[in-house]
Amino acid sequence: MTADVLVIFGITGDLARKMTFRSLYRLEAAGLLDCPVIGVAREDWSHDHLVSSLREALQSAGETVEPKSFDRLARRLSYLRGDFADPATYQALADRLKDAEKPLFYLEIPPSLFAPVVEALGAANLTTHATVMLEKPFGHDLASARTLNARLHRVLTEDQILRIDHFLGKQPVLDIQFLRFANTLLEPVWNRDHVAAVQITMAEDFGVEDRGAFYDPVGALRDVVQNHLLQVLALVAMEAPVGPGSDALWDRRVDVFRAMADVDPAHCLRGQYQGYLEVPGVKAGSVTETYVELGLEVDNWRWSGVPFFIRAGKALAARATEVRVLFKRPPRLAFLDEPEHPDPNELVLRIDPDPGLRLGMLSKKASGHSAGTVHLDLSFAAELGKPPEPYERLLNDALTGDRSLFTREDVVEETWRVIQPLVDHPPVPVPYERGSWGPAQAPRRTSWQLPWLSNPDHRRTDHADK
Ligand code: BG6
Repeated sequence: MTADVLVIFGITGDLARKMTFRSLYRLEAAGLLDCPVIGVAREDWSHDHLVSSLREALQSAGETVEPKSFDRLARRLSYLRGDFADPATYQALADRLKDAEKPLFYLEIPPSLFAPVVEALGAANLTTHATVMLEKPFGHDLASARTLNARLHRVLTEDQILRIDHFLGKQPVLDIQFLRFANTLLEPVWNRDHVAAVQITMAEDFGVEDRGAFYDPVGALRDVVQNHLLQVLALVAMEAPVGPGSDALWDRRVDVFRAMADVDPAHCLRGQYQGYLEVPGVKAGSVTETYVELGLEVDNWRWSGVPFFIRAGKALAARATEVRVLFKRPPRLAFLDEPEHPDPNELVLRIDPDPGLRLGMLSKKASGHSAGTVHLDLSFAAELGKPPEPYERLLNDALTGDRSLFTREDVVEETWRVIQPLVDHPPVPVPYERGSWGPAQAPRRTSWQLPWLSNPDHRRTDHADK
């Protein structure tokens, strides 16, 4: 059943300004929003203040605003001032929700407040038919994720909980499943007989900027690997779901993590960009990593022996998030006058920016008799049109009760289990220069390929990148 009211805790915050208002507006403009929206926060805001924040947020996001849609959304919005720790806030909310049968509570608040707010909603009898959507991060290690799950489950059943990972709402991430299972061409070679390695890169060309206080206790591993990149890995490695519905999908994803041993910190590299310690909010002498690299294995019949490498970092040479599947090298081309070993085929799925698919094929060069790589490139935007923004999609799914893009309890706990040894025994971070590809001299277990860049002017090469 579709939610009949949306309650946003933390509507005065950063995330609302950057993402939520825009998503609400787009859903409104598309005719997909059909319920009142109540914002709850501590600040002393009026309805007018809320509406002007909405307008500013849309303007600074460069959104084209259509006045009728804006007015409709403004009329839907209302504001409730309240302290999240005060039971009176929940009583006031209960009064507003008297006629609601299926509220959706969206908690975009500090993670330490998730359990207390859910408990307070429960105590005010507001959770019986409700759904609760939680922002990331979900826990800061395995033990805290388990504790949080246990506290939430005292009030809610699992199917009332929606854990956000916005990467799951990205079109190219969703597309992994289609590419793999809807194309006879790919599926037969998607295994250890044909694949030599998988490299997953999330490179950002900006630093921590104004998020030092958030980022310093977190670091790259917890910020983007435990959640976003392990979810991408699961989509690359999983078997096909056997039926529709979210549990069929999550059953196959959790299988991937269950087939993974705990990460070995000796196979990991941590780095910190030079200048990080000067970022406001970062502790003096911090050893938080702004770059991390790890090697993982999925020990099942499909993947045993194929290494999966993940790297993620801030202040790198370019912005690029991609999955690169490196196939095995063909044997020597004996029919050439000067026999050679050609490069292996590679398939690249670019997630950000400018999503696309690239297939590197070997072909004969125009002159002479040697082989060279040519690329078959596909731009998703050009071929498939502009998809909804991840948050827009997730919000719509939450309102309409589709849980397939929200992570399940067992999956979250498994991802923490896999990386826990690195959380417990982090190697000392190696410094790296801003604008590089991470620690230059550190030994690596893979020869990272330069990502497929949407703007080749950003191309910079150093250390292992080709
Ligand atoms: C967030 C992280 O979850 O994802 C940020 O906290 C990161 O540090 C961001 O920059 C990247 O998301 P996107 O969608 O902009 O690639």
